[in-house]
Amino acid sequence: MKKLFGVIGDPIAQSMSPQIHNDAFEQHNIDGVYLPFHVAKDALQTSVKGWRALGGCGFNVTIPHKVKIMQFLDGVDQDAQQIGAVNTVVNESGKLVGYNTDGAGFVKGLKEITSFHEKNVAIIGAGGAARAILYSLSKENVEEITVANRTESKALELIKSLHLETLANASSILQLEETLSKYDIIINTTSVGMYPNEDEMPISLSFLKKNCVVSDIIYNPLETKFLKEAKKQGAITQNGVPMFVNQAAIAFEIWTNIKPCNTRMEQIVMEHLGGKTC
Ligand code: ATR
Repeated sequence: MKKLFGVIGDPIAQSMSPQIHNDAFEQHNIDGVYLPFHVAKDALQTSVKGWRALGGCGFNVTIPHKVKIMQFLDGVDQDAQQIGAVNTVVNESGKLVGYNTDGAGFVKGLKEITSFHEKNVAIIGAGGAARAILYSLSKENVEEITVANRTESKALELIKSLHLETLANASSILQLEETLSKYDIIINTTSVGMYPNEDEMPISLSFLKKNCVVSDIIYNPLETKFLKEAKKQGAITQNGVPMFVNQAAIAFEIWTNIKPCNTRMEQIVMEHLGGKTC
């Protein structure tokens, strides 16, 4: 019988997950199908019940369900529990168990272009994406992490809730802009610069350190104004595609125990987004 996989979210039509997972099933001769399911906020619990009844294998969870889904599962992996959000669910012999592959996917993607050893890292934003990334980065041997946010108090709350006060500190956006030259890696986790607000930048980049790494988790547009500006100043840049591909690849491996081909997944995403390179 065909194995059922999918992604639940609202909105969901834009999701590229069906293309990359269906292609990976085909590549690995797995008789599976991955479908997008439009699930509104108030239908989340019912959709999980439906999934159980249908005997579906695994599914991804996206906005706005990543936090609320946890209460409807039978178990949540330790990392996902710490992060406080689930983006991948697997049916383990009738028990639905939640994982979070966002932070690990981000770290894996950035490791393709830099090491974290003794690096001074700045994270812009203090929302859900920042939380997963901060948690995963804290497992790497970075020197120090600064979390800068428009609402500075939220940056401090985030650090405290993950018990990372010795590794991380909170900052305002202005403070980060003024001390930018001390950072080796700068990561934008906010939606500032995302389509259709492509003219916006999360911070100004006047004091960028030479040869630093600048990452933006946005992939629409493929190159945000923030990345363009950083590149102009000689920074090594990375967009959100590697994070997206790696979170999907880790989820695929959780479901199937097979490592899919990341390059192939990336090609599919790039084709879909109409770009040629990352
Ligand atoms: P996500 O789950 O995608 O991270 P989120 O939890 O809503 O989304 O968090 C959004 C982050 O982007 C927050 O850090 C938010 O800053 P505030 O905490 O001050 O709201 C930041 N953000 C969103 N729009 C912004 C803007 N126009 N300027 C600056 N920061 C913005």
